[in-house]
Amino acid sequence: MKRGLLFGLALTFGFTGISIAAAPAKDGASLLEERCSVCHPAARPKAAQKTPAEWESTVSRMIGKGAQLTAGEKKVLVDYLGKTYKP
Ligand code: HEC
Repeated sequence: MKRGLLFGLALTFGFTGISIAAAPAKDGASLLEERCSVCHPAARPKAAQKTPAEWESTVSRMIGKGAQLTAGEKKVLVDYLGKTYKP
């Protein structure tokens, strides 16, 4: 009985750990602060004004340089940049 309970708990925590690691929980603003301040200050993108298409190509270029973004995070960030820092 006790073993079964412990096993169940271990499974529960195991799955919780996985779902936290995999959850795309970050919003555009925190992605910008976190991932776009590695090589230059986040002030650099914040000073720019671009259309959504221009942000898409800028962020792709930054990923080419080494910015760490998953496909899902890239979309969230490009949407945020396009709405927030527009011409
Ligand atoms: C791996 C390093 C690196 C990371 C991470 C990075 N950048 Fe850059 N970024 C650069 C370099 C180097 C330049 C200057 C050369 C250039 O413009 O290509 C630059 C220049 C820029 C510029 C000015 C030039 C332009 O096209 O307007 C913007 C805006 C910019 N980055 C946005 C971002 C955003 C948004 C992110 C987050 C997704 C980001 N960067 C993450 C390296 C990086």
